[in-house]
Amino acid sequence: MSRDKTSRRSYLKTLGAAGASLAGASGVGAPRAKAAPQAGAAKAAELPLPDHDRRIQWWREARFGMFVHWGLYSQLGRQEWVMSLEDIPVAKYEPLAKTFHPRPNAAREWARLARQAGMKYIVMTTKHHEGFCLFDSKLTDYCATKQGPGRDLVREFVDAARAEGLHVGFYYSLMDWHHPDGMKAKDDAAARGRFVEYIHGQIRELLTNYGKIDILWYDVAVPLDAEGWQSQKMNDMVLELQPDIIVNNRNWLAGDFKTPEQNIEATKGDWESCMTLNDSWGYTAADDNWKTPERIVRNLVECGQGGGNYLLNIGPKADGSIPEPSVRILTAVGKWMAKNNAAIYGTSASKVRFSNIAGFTWKGNTLYTHIHFWPGSTATVGGITTPPKSAKFLASGKEVHFTHDGTQLTFTDLPMKAPDDPVTVIAAEFDAEPVQNSLAVRVIDTIMEIERRIHPQPANG
Ligand code: GLC
Repeated sequence: MSRDKTSRRSYLKTLGAAGASLAGASGVGAPRAKAAPQAGAAKAAELPLPDHDRRIQWWREARFGMFVHWGLYSQLGRQEWVMSLEDIPVAKYEPLAKTFHPRPNAAREWARLARQAGMKYIVMTTKHHEGFCLFDSKLTDYCATKQGPGRDLVREFVDAARAEGLHVGFYYSLMDWHHPDGMKAKDDAAARGRFVEYIHGQIRELLTNYGKIDILWYDVAVPLDAEGWQSQKMNDMVLELQPDIIVNNRNWLAGDFKTPEQNIEATKGDWESCMTLNDSWGYTAADDNWKTPERIVRNLVECGQGGGNYLLNIGPKADGSIPEPSVRILTAVGKWMAKNNAAIYGTSASKVRFSNIAGFTWKGNTLYTHIHFWPGSTATVGGITTPPKSAKFLASGKEVHFTHDGTQLTFTDLPMKAPDDPVTVIAAEFDAEPVQNSLAVRVIDTIMEIERRIHPQPANG
């Protein structure tokens, strides 16, 4: 985790000043002061959106979703920031809109893979920072229906997701490198007026033309603050058009959930860690730094353990096909989920958190111990003050024996080889939720308390 976090931060650093404000916008370790919008909006940002618990209930149950980064940049194969990192002028970048010819209904393949992987929702980039709209927009010609594709790719995406029973999310970048007013909006009031109207208008289109939409995932609110974007008005419009939708926190307001990026940080309230399968969001031909299925399952468990969601990315090629390693990894994750999903869906933050061989999730009266480093004939969890009533392997239903000695819960008579791959889950029933109080817990809690005093939590992310 920390490696990803570090590389993400140093990457943003290489973008200089823009990187620093981006860090604030996307919630990547931005200090609270930097993210704070103007007075009125700051106050609103602290208020929960109306009806939050009702609207977000399904998402809390779901725990696992797919992120899809796809756009003109997929043709270049050097990820979605290529236009700005290689400083490609708009006039030179625009022709990519003409040469973009994805195969029909590519989204069906993504949605099928997502369902098979055990994911319950899917969020696609309807417009990334490059400004190209994958949807039909009356407000620009720079959109899929009027360019190379000649059809509405967002419509195909929505239909594909619904056909697989997935909840549907729209990622929408507020920052826009193509719109002539996109960067001017900061200092030029007339440009700001036009640009903000354009952005609000496109959000209205997205939330009017595609039926029920479950998530709106804003990104990178550069170059304006909450007042400049009229973020409160934006959220009000979104909820008026889609009364059941949830929105994230990347338009400078708190929204319904936080969005830590490339790291897992359990915080109070609802949060979702978004992560890549390799090191890139958009398709990057040369990036072969793929995570293993074990890493993905462990990340998913870690999110569940902290009471959060895991949004895992694929970056399809320009034709819409999914890179083979992503298919392989997600298929393996899906095999594990098919047997073990009860230990993921609907879980809430676990009070038992520390072990060097396992992660934990909690639901109803069951503590799920997810063992990734199989220790052999016995496995001990320290600091569990009350004994379980019973225990079994989740995948096979086979009973697991155990002993409880003071604070040591030890599963016994285990096979020498892990029964499941890449993680074996033991489900233990308790009368009431056990707490964990080992020496390790006391040490770690003390460290975290000192850390919190030195580095207070950022507002976003
Ligand atoms: C950042 C990046 C962007 C990516 C997103 C995913 O904000 O700018 O490229 O889409 O994170 O969370």
